[in-house]
Amino acid sequence: MSHSALATNNLEAFWMPFTANRQFKKNPRLFVGAKDMHYTTADGRQVLDGTAGLWCCNAGHGRPKITEAVQRQIAELDYAPAFQMGHPHAFELAARLTALMPSPIDHVFFTNSGSESVETALKMAIAYHRVRGEGARTRLIGRERGYHGVNFGGISVGGIVANRKMFGPLLAGVDHIRHTHDLSRNAWSRGQPENGAEYAEDLIRLVQLHDPSTIAAVIVEPVAGSTGVLIPPKGYLERLRAICDQHGILLIFDEVITGFGRLGSPFAVDHFGVTPDLVTTAKGITNGVIPMGAVFCTSQIHEAFMTGPEHLIEFFHGYTYSGHPVACAAGLGTLDTYEEEGLLTRGAELAGYWEDALHSLRDARHVIDVRNIGLIGAIELEPIAGEPTKRAFSAFLKAYDAGILIRTTGDIIAMSPPLIIEKHQIDQLVTTLRDVLQGLD
Ligand SMILES: Cc1ncc(COP(=O)(O)O)c(C=O)c1O
Repeated sequence: MSHSALATNNLEAFWMPFTANRQFKKNPRLFVGAKDMHYTTADGRQVLDGTAGLWCCNAGHGRPKITEAVQRQIAELDYAPAFQMGHPHAFELAARLTALMPSPIDHVFFTNSGSESVETALKMAIAYHRVRGEGARTRLIGRERGYHGVNFGGISVGGIVANRKMFGPLLAGVDHIRHTHDLSRNAWSRGQPENGAEYAEDLIRLVQLHDPSTIAAVIVEPVAGSTGVLIPPKGYLERLRAICDQHGILLIFDEVITGFGRLGSPFAVDHFGVTPDLVTTAKGITNGVIPMGAVFCTSQIHEAFMTGPEHLIEFFHGYTYSGHPVACAAGLGTLDTYEEEGLLTRGAELAGYWEDALHSLRDARHVIDVRNIGLIGAIELEPIAGEPTKRAFSAFLKAYDAGILIRTTGDIIAMSPPLIIEKHQIDQLVTTLRDVLQGLD
């Protein structure tokens, strides 16, 4: 069946994730190919990837080292049991990944997605306190507007209302600190906003309310992505770290989008110089090619579990596909590509150009804020009165027609291009977006 026949005849059975299904199926947007910075649509157009897929294809598309590694691995060892058995590439990838992290983060647990990484980290945190004899520390603290995937733990600590409100009471024993978005003081920030370190003090309110002896961990995205790019105010993450330290609370950074070069350093941990106890990752770990996630933890957490009789399982958790051989091969091919092309730090070289280009949209129609960090940018639009999200969604559709892929959340446009983007392609993103915004109601 030709692509166009598929597009018109056969779209009903697939219930699409996080998609306006009826709108899509009336006017489908299908990609059939991808190479480097571009997607090819079913009707043969080239679309410039302004979002690295879903924040995951950091090295761009169709990268030969990754493709070849995956092909070789499938032919050589397609699957090995993940429990009580191993295969060399999982250990090799773990060693190379932990070498990218600052000390004392030196162990890694494999999962298959960001959502699974979050569940794993939350369970690890609670279990860690228990194996140390502090079993009362079970409470988890998230943040308003946080996104930590879609499983029950993740939506419980998450703070995006639409992702939570349909699903009942969620996990017990969860609370949230306030978010840091503050346009009245921080609009048009370049990099980290100047104001708002004191929002971290909200954690003290919860510590006083619940007593620290009941709190296992705090989880935040160092830069909140899915909620529309909320960049931490200067001093905020440092303050969160200090409060956690003071009260024996673990700090989890959800680096599912900030990991693997997005901020111009391998991880946000490096960019902000704040070291958490656990780091959740996924997406860029395999350049989006094969599903995979990873949770990093400190030696202190790992060692706490390594007690008791040696024939006993230390942590009753894992997935059939944890450390899947093909995902590990993709991960190794991805790290090779990142390292050979300097992609984990290329964002730092481009960040200044990216920032200036984005902020040139300050006077574009409907724009009420522009903000950026590393190779992330957000353009916040004035919502249409009574119809929130509609203006940004229209921008997304028109941008696609005009040959660029952007993402929207609420009335915020987010961009996070592959780290191989060239300056003329940054110009194309911004020029096209200006035209799109000019044409919007
Ligand atoms: C910070 C963060 N955590 C978790 C997730 C969930 O990842 P996945 O969709 O792979 O489950 C995402 C996805 O965008 C994310 O941005």
